[in-house]
Amino acid sequence: MGKLTSLLLFALISSTQAAPRIDCLPEPNGNQGACEARGCIWKEDDSGIGAPWCYFKDGVGYKLDSQQGSTYNLRKNSGPSNPWGADSTEIKLTTKKIGSVLNVHIGIDGRYEPPVDFPRETQPSDESLVLSTDSSSDVFSFSVVRQSSNRKLFDTSLGGLIFSDQFIQIATYLPSENMYGWGENTHQTLRHDFTKYLTWAMFARDQPPNSGNLDTMNLYGVHPYYMILEPDGKAHGVLILNSNAQEVMTAPGPSLIYRTIGGNLDMYFFPGPTPELVTQQYLKFIGKPFLPAYWALGYQLSRYGYKGLDEMKTRIQAVRDAGIPIDIVLISGVADIDYMQRYKDFTTGDDWSGFGDYVKTMHSWGMKLILIFDPAIEATYDSFKRGMAANAKFVEWETQAQVQTGIQNLYPMAKNTKIMLGVVWPDNHVAFPDFLDSTNNTQNWWISEFVNYQSQVAFDGIWIDMNEPSNFGTNQNHPWYFDSDDHPDDAPLFCPTDGSNLWEMPPYKTRAVWRWGDAGNGAFLSTNTLCLLALQDGGKQRFYNVKNLYGLTEAIHTQKALFKATGKRGAVVSRSTYPSAGRYAGHWLGDNTARWEDLRTSVIGAQEFNMFGIPYVGSDVCGFIGTTTEELCLRWQQMGAFHSFFRNHNTIGAPAQDPAVWPSVAAATKQANLFRYQYLPYLFSLHFVASQSGASVIRPVFFEFPTDAETFNLGYQFMWGPRMMVAPVIYQGHTTQNVYLPTDTWYSLFDYKYGSIISPGYATVQAPTTSRIPVFVRGTDKVSFLVRPHPLLPLPLVRIHSNFSLLHAQWEKVSELCIGMTERLLSMISTLMTTITSISFITRLPLVVFSQLIIPRRSVFEGFLKMKVDFQSSTISLPTLDIIEIFNYPKAPNFRSFTVNGKTVNINVQKSTYSGVTKTLYISTPGLIDLTSADSIVIQWSNAGSSMFEMNVANPGKMKALNTNRYEELYF
Ligand SMILES: *[C@@H]1O[C@H](CO)[C@@H](O)[C@H](O)[C@H]1NC(C)=O
Ligand SMILES: *[C@@H]1O[C@H](CO)[C@@H](O)[C@H](O)[C@H]1NC(C)=O
Repeated sequence: MGKLTSLLLFALISSTQAAPRIDCLPEPNGNQGACEARGCIWKEDDSGIGAPWCYFKDGVGYKLDSQQGSTYNLRKNSGPSNPWGADSTEIKLTTKKIGSVLNVHIGIDGRYEPPVDFPRETQPSDESLVLSTDSSSDVFSFSVVRQSSNRKLFDTSLGGLIFSDQFIQIATYLPSENMYGWGENTHQTLRHDFTKYLTWAMFARDQPPNSGNLDTMNLYGVHPYYMILEPDGKAHGVLILNSNAQEVMTAPGPSLIYRTIGGNLDMYFFPGPTPELVTQQYLKFIGKPFLPAYWALGYQLSRYGYKGLDEMKTRIQAVRDAGIPIDIVLISGVADIDYMQRYKDFTTGDDWSGFGDYVKTMHSWGMKLILIFDPAIEATYDSFKRGMAANAKFVEWETQAQVQTGIQNLYPMAKNTKIMLGVVWPDNHVAFPDFLDSTNNTQNWWISEFVNYQSQVAFDGIWIDMNEPSNFGTNQNHPWYFDSDDHPDDAPLFCPTDGSNLWEMPPYKTRAVWRWGDAGNGAFLSTNTLCLLALQDGGKQRFYNVKNLYGLTEAIHTQKALFKATGKRGAVVSRSTYPSAGRYAGHWLGDNTARWEDLRTSVIGAQEFNMFGIPYVGSDVCGFIGTTTEELCLRWQQMGAFHSFFRNHNTIGAPAQDPAVWPSVAAATKQANLFRYQYLPYLFSLHFVASQSGASVIRPVFFEFPTDAETFNLGYQFMWGPRMMVAPVIYQGHTTQNVYLPTDTWYSLFDYKYGSIISPGYATVQAPTTSRIPVFVRGTDKVSFLVRPHPLLPLPLVRIHSNFSLLHAQWEKVSELCIGMTERLLSMISTLMTTITSISFITRLPLVVFSQLIIPRRSVFEGFLKMKVDFQSSTISLPTLDIIEIFNYPKAPNFRSFTVNGKTVNINVQKSTYSGVTKTLYISTPGLIDLTSADSIVIQWSNAGSSMFEMNVANPGKMKALNTNRYEELYF
């Protein structure tokens, strides 16, 4: 067969490839009889791609009835009806532009819409997305088209639009298989897999991740958002603003089928065109991430199961003795050894007397404390009493008749209320604060509880857990805690699961339930949580609709509580999240397991949460559940040092796993943490930019190289902003690492050939456990300067007292750049300061010292650096710039020739070096540059062997062109 024939044959096969099947029987235990009873097609498929055996006939959908402007009135067509309730006869599609964002809303006026308060700030784009419709047949369809390329980004000609009260579905073809996002799930690869049919569940659940194998179950949060990289390298994002239990099926085509069981289909298309611009547009729309305190980027040591304050003190001391930089201690409060008294929020346990004093000691070392709080409040004690007195609201039953009076009557304070009492860690039943309470009574009471407790134990940050919300033993006759020594046998919560209530037992229960089997296995939507029929906000909101917002709404009010209690920015981290949660809190990737697989998925998870607008994210380093190993813990410490939220955390009963346990892990952690701390100003400035303009901090490599196909599924490498590439070692026994470097100039920033250019492409680099993990800095035209504080001081102090150094990684190319605190930055900071009154606020920001740093292009290689100092504080003293490190410097300098503003300086020649092999110039001299000495500082030198001292002054045109508003380019 000739080449042409085979090509033709291939084309023929592809074009006749069957359309993706739209599942008609996603429930477990389907069979042909049940399928045909639904009027669907039953056709077994053994091709191994998981195609549904029961699928809809063609023609499912709506037809166009009439159109008024941008509103399309649709009517159920003559095609098949849906098996999960009566199809709505009339629905409406409306479309509008919000800046560059295209909104397509399909549904019925007056139905539930998520009560979320997105700023909907827009960002212009060169690209325009338009809606195009096709009503030529009985099946109305629409596409979202990118005008510049005429590409269909979303194309519902696949059919399958279903709209009924408790079952809504939309299906679409996609322009590319390069899809990212959807959450919260554990993804084994960064890019989705369209070679088979997979259904990903989204419903907030107290569910630890399973990284051991492909598992599409739902975890703690819900993020109905994805990004697609189109074949020409342009990217777009899509948010489906819906908060009900939902799922997405990815299928060959490539196509996707989205289903939800309430609300409307409210879709937002973000045009990009680069992945980072998509992210910025999305984050501006939902709300830009909060800026964590500088110290919150420090190393955090935590465990669940300290047997009291003494054990905690011992472990902290061991880590300090090992010389490991550590800044934050977290106390997990979920065991009888915890800091709380029998797990009750805002109390201190008997074994923790002196805790308040110890926190003062920690503060004197420069350490900080983050404390855990659960939302549920025991119905017996003062916090609850104060809440009742303040008319705070709790999640309620709908009617008095539903109340489990046997439970209610145990608690005098709850007795005649409809409060839905459940069971969590405390000994007695608990009530769940209603953070949607529009009277503000609940939020005011919640805030005052934190303020009161902070005056006893001066925590600096807040960790909110169990906020899906999690409830133990719902609908179970014998919940697990009946067999626990540490929990009384409280009567469990029972929801009406007999089918009489459609909130509890909707016709379609989603994969969040099917994943655990059917009702026969005790799997319900209410499993591990409260009854779906519950009400919030005085009956205005149904838990069935708003459950997925519980963590978000708790985070909103907890951040206010933190500000009020501490007067500082601090940080909140939340287990359950929803779009916009990043405005209020960070996130950790949940109760992972001490396995290599979990280390790997956490590398992917952190990148996804950056796409979701929650850049303050990381995993439980060394693994939470199970017993870690020395090598795994070492590699995880090394990788975790590159995640914004960096915490070693361990479960109760597991052996200690703080880095001081093993000398090798202690050494690797010290090395990794010192590196992190040295480059922390860069990480912090990425967070600063994210908080001001919406941006990712840790980003997938394809964000920076969207036309390099090698990066599209490069999930185990990631970028720190645009400049640094990290390639962690994530396999057992590996001492070398295969890395991929896209076409650009890359310098090694780790032990292997430090300072040298590493050629782009695939490379195998040395990465023994004693070395730093592979990390590279990118030398582009834009920037390669990184200001580095001395890493050995506690973070709150380092900004003020430490000397610092400067790394310049692209000697030849850079002609101008700008690092530092510009006017605009200062004014933004003052704005922030008026909202959060804290004197120490400014000291927590990197003290930025340069507004301009100019390197003119030269014909002769002579050293010349010019810094324009823009520093306006009379209260803060500036550190000196002691070290300047320059990569790719062509020639040995004459160390005797250095002048600063024309005055000769004596360079310490013992400490200063030049390597002709790596072309690295290292200038180190105590007090080299006093930045307060002049507004403008010029340091210059000649090279060895050069008799003539030649200097080119910075091109004034270029200096003028420096745009001080472009704080994106501040790297300090
Ligand atoms: C509740 O607080 C919000 C935000 O501070 C405020 O806008 C709103 O008016 C308050 N509502 C009531 C009923 O006081
Ligand atoms: C910078 O400060 C650190 C910590 O105070 C000190 O150990 C180091 O010697 C200083 N470096 C120079 C070059 O003075």
